[in-house]
Amino acid sequence: MASGSTSPPALSTKVVVLGAKGRTGRLVLGHLKKLGAKEVVAVARNITGETSDDVVKWEAGDVKEAGRLSTLLKGASAVLFTASASQGWSLFGTNTPKQVDYEGCVLTAKAAVQAKVPQLVIVSSAFVARPYHPIALMLSTLFGRVMQWKRKGELEAISITQQAGSVTSYTIVRPGGLSDKKPPKGLQGIQISQGDTINGMITRDDTALVTAQALLHNTAKNTVFEVVWHKVEKKGEGEEEEQAPPQRYKDWTDFFSRLRPNNGAHDPAFYPADHGQPMGGTGKTEL
Ligand SMILES: NC(=O)c1ccc[n+]([C@@H]2O[C@H](COP(=O)([O-])OP(=O)(O)OC[C@H]3O[C@@H](n4cnc5c(N)ncnc54)[C@H](OP(=O)(O)O)[C@@H]3O)[C@@H](O)[C@H]2O)c1
Repeated sequence: MASGSTSPPALSTKVVVLGAKGRTGRLVLGHLKKLGAKEVVAVARNITGETSDDVVKWEAGDVKEAGRLSTLLKGASAVLFTASASQGWSLFGTNTPKQVDYEGCVLTAKAAVQAKVPQLVIVSSAFVARPYHPIALMLSTLFGRVMQWKRKGELEAISITQQAGSVTSYTIVRPGGLSDKKPPKGLQGIQISQGDTINGMITRDDTALVTAQALLHNTAKNTVFEVVWHKVEKKGEGEEEEQAPPQRYKDWTDFFSRLRPNNGAHDPAFYPADHGQPMGGTGKTEL
């Protein structure tokens, strides 16, 4: 955003990014800056080597430390949880999926509510609501039951914010497999869905873009959704070049307007009503 121009209201006060040194977290910082955020507090366990600038201020912090979270979240308009465990199975681990993806997420939700932070956005993962899917089973087996802990973190964070009334809204972004081998595709390349039914890949940059954009759209509040790339058409054997996806969304408002809020018996996070029905596409299953 050009200097002197006005920040969108959601970005006009402090936005806190937890796990900001992570591959997605760092990209979120960049998108928040591009969207015109006035002050971004980038939080990582070790901030050695990081340099603050006019917008991004680096602060040391661990999502396992409730007191530190309260301090960091004071006066914030939003908190974005992009942290994830650095250890998998570990008997005496101090940074396992249980401790970070679950307990850290819960502490963040509690701190957000206590500090009256209006928006909480959590980067979780596709497949967390499909514990017996081979991909979820494989990831959890390899990495300390990570998918179960993430799901437990989601559910408790939702419950904490719901119990606090309308103090803090939640948004849970569940990307598919993260890969940075191809360039990001942006709005028209991203498929949004609810109910944890879709499979696919997406770049961290596109995930970070959706995560940052979610702060600007009321329809993203109190929702849980998945994002993957639209499947590309293959022309035939040996012809795998990607085709430009057809225009799918007018803009980001249109993108997020495809979401339904989670609401009791219709909550797609709990009752996947959309099974096999990707949203915002052509109506056919695209993955
Ligand atoms: N890999 C995939 O294909 C995939 C697919 C779907 C979803 N996801 C999820 O998407 C999210 C982003 O993934 P990513 O690959 O970008 O993550 P990443 O690069 O592994 O970054 C995670 C960050 O969390 C930080 N962190 C760990 N413990 C922390 C703590 N106690 N307090 C504060 N920060 C802490 C780590 O920093 P330290 O240096 O301090 O450990 C690291 O910078 C994660 O939740 C991931 O599980 C991943």
